[in-house]
Amino acid sequence: MNLVSMKALLCKAEEKGTGIAAINVSNIETINAVMEAAERVNYPVILQVAPIQLNIQKISYSEITEIVKILGNKYNIEVALHLDHAETINECIEAIDAGFTSVMYDGSNVSLEENIENSKKVVDYAKDKGVTVEAELGRVAGAESGADDSIKGLMTIPKLASFFVKSTGVHCLAVSIGNAHGHYKYEPKLDFERLEEIRTQAKIPLVLHGGTGIPDTDIQRAIELGIRKINFFTEIDNEFVNGFINSYEKNKNIYMMAAQEAGRQRMLTKAIEKIKLCMKY
Ligand code: 13P
Repeated sequence: MNLVSMKALLCKAEEKGTGIAAINVSNIETINAVMEAAERVNYPVILQVAPIQLNIQKISYSEITEIVKILGNKYNIEVALHLDHAETINECIEAIDAGFTSVMYDGSNVSLEENIENSKKVVDYAKDKGVTVEAELGRVAGAESGADDSIKGLMTIPKLASFFVKSTGVHCLAVSIGNAHGHYKYEPKLDFERLEEIRTQAKIPLVLHGGTGIPDTDIQRAIELGIRKINFFTEIDNEFVNGFINSYEKNKNIYMMAAQEAGRQRMLTKAIEKIKLCMKY
């Protein structure tokens, strides 16, 4: 495995007009599943983990980096290791110091001024280390607030995109265009016109969070319009959990390793599907 900067992967995707799947991982099995998926389709992948995932499992930033490096030895692929949804500058700094090749400062819950100030601080810290910085403008909601009306007020305002990018120097920008995290309660309706305007203003690779439940055709259209990184968590993670549970339901005497492998296989299949979906264009 070649641990590369996310910027390098996004630049290549930009040249070819394609996207790259960014998949959340939690442990050895899920890391192996995603890296094997990338190798099987011979396409780079972004492995990502959020502070909340690490905290719940009591795994440190340097431990996850080392695990990824060790497991990566057996795969012939390009991987970026990304910190997803860090809400503090300190979390970004910890991840950068631990060897992550990219971080997301998520300032969607603070004022625009604070979002700009903090995103810029992270960019300044990351600069010397060659680490890529993603920020969010607007707010990607949880899928529980997935009705059109509640999502609309949180959407990225295209006119602010150019100002935000210039003021912060971020390398890629997460947008809110009707996407939401988790399983959608309502059919997601992406605002492609808004996406086009944001892209014209921002002029940098854009990121689509909340990949779970967005129809394939909409993901492909979003890639055509400038989305370069597509985040998938819930749907792929659920494959692992369901694979594990099903194998246990079939055989209550099962050893954990066999149930874990059943989960890993299900996750592998879904990860291949999503990586391929992003590389179509
Ligand atoms: P989903 O859980 O909806 O796939 O979203 C993942 C995500 O955006 C992680 O940042």
